[in-house]
Amino acid sequence: MRLIHTVAEMASAQKGVIRPLGLVPTMGALHQGHLSLVRRAKEDNATVEVSIFVNPAQFGPREDLSTYPRNQEQDLALLEEQGVDLVFLPQPDDIYPAGFDTWVNVGRVASRLEGEARPDHFRGVATVVSKLFNIVRPDRAYFGQKDAQQVQVIRKMISDLNLSVEMAVLPTVREPDGLAMSSRNAYLSLQERQAAPVLYRSLRRAQDMHTDGVRQASAIREAIQNIISTEPMAHLEYVSIASPETLDEMDTIQEPTLVSLAVRIGKTRLIDNVVLGNGGL
Ligand code: PAJ
Repeated sequence: MRLIHTVAEMASAQKGVIRPLGLVPTMGALHQGHLSLVRRAKEDNATVEVSIFVNPAQFGPREDLSTYPRNQEQDLALLEEQGVDLVFLPQPDDIYPAGFDTWVNVGRVASRLEGEARPDHFRGVATVVSKLFNIVRPDRAYFGQKDAQQVQVIRKMISDLNLSVEMAVLPTVREPDGLAMSSRNAYLSLQERQAAPVLYRSLRRAQDMHTDGVRQASAIREAIQNIISTEPMAHLEYVSIASPETLDEMDTIQEPTLVSLAVRIGKTRLIDNVVLGNGGL
């Protein structure tokens, strides 16, 4: 496994690799969700590269950039175990040198939900992902449904900017009690961790109602709100029942429908989602 620390070295290493080349972009603190993307990338490609970069541009001024979990030694051991070929570990001032002043702004799909709660978040995501695509030149890139809006923002960017990267989206990997794996779960106290499965419990209820034939979005929204409110530590920020592609809210469920939510538990903000109907994102 080759470690590459600079943009210049990466840009030249990319030229010699055996293709197809699969890229898994991450911010590290790797868990089984990340590793599921790596495994799929291994199946699909001759060469697999993982980037680990805690991207300052996607964190708001009052967010958790300085405390975001970092665990490079363990991350590298996990990637080595998976047979990853290349790991890209750039420094912030190499990705954003002094005077950096060009941004990728995706419009409507980036403006709602997470975009409302976290202004400039998706501008940071789209900019860094497009830079990674340009530096690494992957044939395929792998993302998780866990961050459903991020998937749609990147998909739109690839399409609108004619980027020649094939995007693969994989299902959310969960803890045995249903909590979606996330690097941020490490912030939860023991008590908060016990409260956290309420997110998926509410989404499961939405799935059950859909299976039972409920098609009114307001009924499903209300059921989710009720379940979240049974957990005193959980504070609901939003529930969205929307078209996965446009993120426009729906009154009547059509398939597929993306049900997504953001919940604060203590100081930690958790997001999760399910897609109603057949197929994922
Ligand atoms: P990060 O949160 O590290 O996630 C990296 C990738 O792993 C994302 O595509 C994310 O959706 C996926 N992922 C996270 N948890 C998952 C889970 N439980 N199951 C399946 N996949 C999961 O997302 C980012 O980093 C950044 O925004 C990034 C795209 C790297 C740009 O900086």
